[in-house]
Amino acid sequence: MRVTFENELFTGTVKRKRRPVSTRRISIFGLGYVGAVSLACLARDGHRVIGVDIDPVKLNLIRSRKSPILEEGIQELMRDTVDSGRVSVSDDTAWAIQQTDVSFICVGTPSAANGSQDLGAITRLAEKIGAALKTKRGFHTIVVRSTVQPGTLEEKIEPILERESGKRSGVDFGLAFQPEFLREGSSIRDYDHPPYTIVGANCEAAINAVRSIFQHLEARFLVTSIRVAETLKMSCNAFHALKITFANEIGRVSESMGIDSHEVMRLVCADTRLNISPAYLKPGFAFGGSCLPKDLRALTQIAKQNDIEIPMLSSLLTSNRVHIDHAVEKILKLGRPKVGMLGLSFKTGTDDLRESPLVMVAKRLIGEGCELRIFDPEVQLSRLLGANRSYIESHIPHVASLLCDSMDCLVGSSDVILVGIQQPVLNEALQAKVREDQTVIDLVNLPNRDLLRCRYEGACW
Ligand SMILES: NC(=O)c1ccc[n+]([C@@H]2O[C@H](COP(=O)([O-])OP(=O)(O)OC[C@H]3O[C@@H](n4cnc5c(N)ncnc54)[C@H](O)[C@@H]3O)[C@@H](O)[C@H]2O)c1
Repeated sequence: MRVTFENELFTGTVKRKRRPVSTRRISIFGLGYVGAVSLACLARDGHRVIGVDIDPVKLNLIRSRKSPILEEGIQELMRDTVDSGRVSVSDDTAWAIQQTDVSFICVGTPSAANGSQDLGAITRLAEKIGAALKTKRGFHTIVVRSTVQPGTLEEKIEPILERESGKRSGVDFGLAFQPEFLREGSSIRDYDHPPYTIVGANCEAAINAVRSIFQHLEARFLVTSIRVAETLKMSCNAFHALKITFANEIGRVSESMGIDSHEVMRLVCADTRLNISPAYLKPGFAFGGSCLPKDLRALTQIAKQNDIEIPMLSSLLTSNRVHIDHAVEKILKLGRPKVGMLGLSFKTGTDDLRESPLVMVAKRLIGEGCELRIFDPEVQLSRLLGANRSYIESHIPHVASLLCDSMDCLVGSSDVILVGIQQPVLNEALQAKVREDQTVIDLVNLPNRDLLRCRYEGACW
């Protein structure tokens, strides 16, 4: 399912409405950082909220108008909302389900000993909620806000709820995943200003329940599939960890050379065209060319010479090689087919072959005994000069015998067409010429790929 942008035009000029249009009866399971902040903010927004936790200390703290967590502004907010009479707490799951029509699940999902996600708390809670739904009249929506690994809702939570309740998911009850983006230390501010509200759900009613509670926020309301939403949350956390690690590794290398790391990173961030932007953030094929690999190697060497470890930056070339291997394995899995490679240079629109990942693929395929033909309209051997020419001559000495001069020749002689460059004219020619018995392996995320009348596989999609 693709994301739909429901109110994408919300911008900084639109003021956040103070309250949602309608108020709901909401239960919150798990009163840690996420649950306690949600409880206080939802009650502040006018909803009647029941907080449920298995920890009596947390329940008693809230009963006595105190917050179970330490966060800027939370003590005052908790006191005011408890005083408002809209907050109650309990350890009774069944009662909370009966009294409300939307439930937020905010229990912990910590690491198990082997690093996998421990889903014990959320699955045990799902059993209790399912049993409570059995006797509940009327539609109930369950919104998971805990961070869960992809597939958890559809493969674990939904079957438990259906089994325990005897009811049908998407018909008798709604199930949604709405990732929470708050950060400890600024959680109330983050709750009110999320980067976006994103929801994956099993039915329209569940989406509408989330919308009715959060659409007053000045943030885009995006709808996607449950699995994409689950994967998104984990990807966001991985991306944040990657950014921190990048800045710290650049910091260590800079420090080792007596260079101001803050000035370096300030200027890295000042480039909003290539650095802090969607550039280079689409799943596709491996990087290559005359700059990225060599400069990464040089940076790694500087770190070594200065006795600095930069494990993440040092691992990038390894990861890139694994990505090339992944493409080769997709081809070999088809049983040493005749391969036609569309493209040889390191990216569309250049004849630079230096460290081109497509040259690596070609070398591997030749080594594995595949018959190979190559068509790249930009690459004419007679015109290659200097380092570019010697690179290809040393890596694939007989490259001239592999080159074809047209799409007709390439497609006509291949079982598999590996698409490594794209231009509208090439895409159209491919669509027109490819046959049903052929396979296209797409490394460039071809537009209009539905028009290809053949088997299709993406590089990592
Ligand atoms: N802490 C954050 O900044 C943050 C931000 C976004 C998402 N998350 C995610 O949200 C989830 C909760 O995080 P947290 O930091 O609030 O966790 P937490 O450990 O602070 O709180 C979890 C609470 O759940 C309660 N609980 C466990 N089993 C229960 C049950 N059966 N019924 C009711 N309550 C039960 C525990 O007693 C505890 O109070 C996690 O999946 C986490 O990854 C956390």
